[in-house]
Amino acid sequence: MNKKLKILLLLGGTSPEREVSKSTGKSVYQALQNLDYDIIVMDPAYGINQPFEVEDYFNENDYAEISNENYLDAINLISSEQINVAFLALHGKFGEDGTIQSLLELKGIKYTGSKVLSSALAMDKIMSKILFEEYNVPTPKSFHFRKGDHTTAEVNRLIEQQFGYPAVVKPNDQGSTVGLTICKSTEQLEQAVHDAFEFSDRILVEEYIPGRELTVAVIDNTALPVLEIKPKHGIYDYECKYTSGMSEYIVPAEIPDEVSILMKEIAVQACNSLRCEVYARVDFRLSPDNKIYALEVNTLPGMTSLSLVPKMAKANGISFEELIEKIINLSLK
Ligand SMILES: Nc1ncnc2c1ncn2[C@@H]1O[C@H](COP(=O)(O)OP(=O)(O)O)[C@@H](O)[C@H]1O
Ligand SMILES: [Mg+2]
Repeated sequence: MNKKLKILLLLGGTSPEREVSKSTGKSVYQALQNLDYDIIVMDPAYGINQPFEVEDYFNENDYAEISNENYLDAINLISSEQINVAFLALHGKFGEDGTIQSLLELKGIKYTGSKVLSSALAMDKIMSKILFEEYNVPTPKSFHFRKGDHTTAEVNRLIEQQFGYPAVVKPNDQGSTVGLTICKSTEQLEQAVHDAFEFSDRILVEEYIPGRELTVAVIDNTALPVLEIKPKHGIYDYECKYTSGMSEYIVPAEIPDEVSILMKEIAVQACNSLRCEVYARVDFRLSPDNKIYALEVNTLPGMTSLSLVPKMAKANGISFEELIEKIINLSLK
């Protein structure tokens, strides 16, 4: 039908997830080629220093300086007449948080996934949890604070009053488990707070939920089969996320039917609470007594060959190409 659509593939960026984004971008690029779209590839971090040779880009180190200030120049190289839709293979700050979405809105360029507000809300873990509570999406107990608000002793007292150790200390607006510590005891707290403040000026402290790690993709308001992750490290950290063989994936997850049904309902509700559109992935913990806790929504989840959303799609009979095509068509609606 609508073949030979012109797609602007945006990838890379300046966030700590730049390399992950390049992997997502590479997988998406191959799929877009297989689908026979016209493709323009652009890394907003390079500004006017493009177009570039795509193969070189994927194989080599950066050929130009990367900077946040380049985004505007890069987007200004493109006009809405030249392309039908921008496929966002970006992750993290400026790519997933509504910033690039705003620039594209101003240019009148359509883009894949969630709009400005929901992108910003989902990237902000504190705001997400406030909305989860409003919409009855179960989430771990927590409190939050800004730089300078509390001494470590005060944070320690709040943890002990509200849920005790282990406690999870995380930066408010970061992905890929960057800057996150599971504090087993008060001794680790000072370092954990310091590490989290390296990435954000607000910190979220959550009760630690023992048990299992699960995730649910939501596409067009419908949940795909639940996937369980068994990371080799106790925690699903950067290495377990992006190194082949460092995690085991089971889809559909081996959990009771009623838990799976409820988790899918909660996943859709979590997406609706943040007004997400087209597709997203909701991360969960499941306690040993099968209580469900939503951790966060990812509005631009990874789409590499190791990534979770493609695995869940496959379990539903949707190939990677079909998934990419579906995202594009839904985003054009
Ligand atoms: N409250 C929690 N209890 C247990 N594990 C957690 C908790 N919060 C985070 N984790 C672990 O840390 C990982 C990353 O946390 P998450 O909130 O999803 O942030 P992000 O993926 O954006 O870095 C989770 O996948 C999980 O393994
Ligand atoms: Mg996560």
